[in-house]
Order: sequence, then C-alpha cells, then structure tokens
Amino acid sequence: MDPLHKPIYVTRPVLPPLEEFTEYLKQIWENKILTNQGPFHEQFERELAGYLGVKYLSLFTNGTLALVTALQTLRITGEVITTPFSFVATTHSLWWNNIKPVFADIEPECYNLDPDRAEAAITPQTTAIMPVHVYGNPCKLERFQQIADTYGLKLIYDAAHAFGIKVNGRSILNFGDLSVMSFHATKVFNTFEGGAIICHDEATKRRIDNLKNFGFVNETTVVIPGINAKMNEFQAAMGLLQLKYVDEAIRKRGEIAKSYREGLRDVEGIICLNDMEGVEHCNPYFPVLIDRDKYGKTRDHVYELLKEHNIYGRRYFYPLISRFPTYRGLESAQPGRMPIAERVSDQILCLPIYPDLQFEAIERIISVLKMGE
Ligand SMILES: Cc1ncc(COP(=O)(O)O)c(C=O)c1O
Repeated sequence: MDPLHKPIYVTRPVLPPLEEFTEYLKQIWENKILTNQGPFHEQFERELAGYLGVKYLSLFTNGTLALVTALQTLRITGEVITTPFSFVATTHSLWWNNIKPVFADIEPECYNLDPDRAEAAITPQTTAIMPVHVYGNPCKLERFQQIADTYGLKLIYDAAHAFGIKVNGRSILNFGDLSVMSFHATKVFNTFEGGAIICHDEATKRRIDNLKNFGFVNETTVVIPGINAKMNEFQAAMGLLQLKYVDEAIRKRGEIAKSYREGLRDVEGIICLNDMEGVEHCNPYFPVLIDRDKYGKTRDHVYELLKEHNIYGRRYFYPLISRFPTYRGLESAQPGRMPIAERVSDQILCLPIYPDLQFEAIERIISVLKMGE
C-alpha cells in the first residue's frame, strides 16, 4: 500500500452542484409528487430523448429492469444469442424471462459480439440477438440488422455503456428494435440509479410504459403482468440537472483517454483500444490489454501492482459471464468455444477514468505501468 497518495478508484460519480439539486427537492416537497410519471419524469423523458436524438424513450428505475422489460415488450422466448463479455445483468435479463442464453464469441478489435459467430449460433429456437456496445464501442450495426432481417429475429441492444454515442452523426440508439440504457452511479450519465428503453414507434412505447407500471393501461384495466420499474421524481430531477453538465463531463473523459493513449504509446505489451472511425465517443471506461509475453507480467500482476500504489483498476469483464457457476453448465459456455472472449477476459484491465481525475494522477498511473514495479 502506498501511504503517500490518496486512493484512485476506477470511477467516481459525477454530481451536479448540491444547491441546484436542493432547488429541485424544494419543488418536490411543494407538489408532493414523488413518483408515478410526475412532472420531472415527463420533462426529463422529453429532454433526454431530445438530447440523445431519439423519438421514443421510456425511463426506468434501473437498466436491469429495463432489459427484462425490453424482452417482454417483444415477447421474446426460446433462445437468445448474446455475448459472454459483459456485465452479468445482460444474461440475467434473459434468465428472468425464462429464455435460454446462447453465448457466442466476440470480435478481437472491439470486444463486441461477433456477428458471424452469432449467425453461426442460430437454431430454430432462436428468436432474438442481444449484443452489447461494450465500453460504448458500436457493434456492427448494419451487419446485425442484416442477420436479423434474414432470419426474422428481433435485435435488442444493451446500450448501458453507450451514452450519446454517434456514428457518422447518427445516434446508435436508433438501430435495432430496442436499445436499453443504464444511468447507474458508475456510468457516464447517472441518475443515482436509472435506465431507459428506446423504441421506434408510439404503440411500442405505450406497451413499454404499461409494462413498467404493473401492466395498467388505464385506471381500472391491467392487460399484462407488468412490473414496477418506474423512475421516481428524485432520479428524474437528478437527470434533468445532469443533462446540463454531461457535455463537459464527456469532453474531460476524452482528454483523459487521449493522455492515457499518448502516455502508454511506447509501452510494449500494453495495448489501448483504437478510437473507431466516425464515432463520437463518451469514454465510459479506459480498457487496456496486458500482453504477458511482451510486457513480461500478467494482467493480474499489474492489477495487484496498481493496488500496491493505491490505484484501483477493474477487470471488466472477468470472469466471463459464461464462467459463472450459474451459466457455466450451458452447452455454449463450454471452455474453448469462445477463444477470443477467453483471451481478452484474461488480459483486460480498465484504468481509472472520470471527469475529475487529475492530470497528476494520470501521470502517476502511467509511470507505474511504465516501470512495471
Ligand atoms: C452492460 C451492462 N448491462 C446492464 C447493466 C445493468 O444496469 P443497472 O446497473 O442500471 O441495472 C450494466 C451496469 O450496471 C451494464 O454494464
């Protein structure tokens, strides 16, 4: 442990000025509406859709319930092809809907579900594909759509990491049947906890809104066994405020990513992910691969070494979801079937990144990695 320096964690939440939030709290106290599509909920839903450049968006209390609801919205059953290289909630959402997850390998360049591997995993039971825009890097959007169209499958993107990502000026949330976001405290944009589903027509939005509110379609009629997944007024007020500051937060993240790239450029065996062409990025994470043969040390060694210097990286995503005891019995989860995901999961390390991360801290992290001791 390094007693001279304060700990540097992998992330820290972005918080707006407290006085500004207090003003919103006063309004909540006055109007006494705490939840159930209150005024802040309605305003935030509109403003967020506008900010993100999407037409239909439904707010949720967290991303996991939004994923579970997205699958119910489209009545997905049978098997869904997904990635093992994600946060476990992606696969859990399938399990909560009695759907069999089928894992397929990822691409070596961007660590997203490989469309060719996904296509090869299709069976007569497959009803949908659920890729994840890992670290905010867009999946192969057109190729996935082509596969979905050819085989008559639904396409649901887990866009939990993909706040405000655009490809050639167009939001990636406009692709697929549905996209699901998370506004968890650790994300680029947070509402303490929160989430959203983006869809492309009014009828689907209505169904999503019914599902997140116990299945009520009006005061006296319940048409589906929906759940309670509504975003409350405190979260929505936080979201409205956060929207004022998110551009600046994303800009700072971009600068930090640039500093890491420059600082680590000549370190043999530490590989940064390339910026993808035409992509406006939000840099939610700063992942690097540690190549043991070139760097001389394993990822776990580097992870422990950073800890000794009071620097806390995270091994996102290790273990693979397919290695957890809950899922490792599945046929698609058997070792050796997803060599790229297995290698990346063993080599990946996410370095600290958040808007307030100071330049001296970045330099310290880079110098520990350069020295390797
Ligand atoms: C890829 C991915 N999917 C889903 C989730 C779940 O979102 P939430 O924490 O808002 O429930 C997360 C993170 O938390 C995530 O990283």
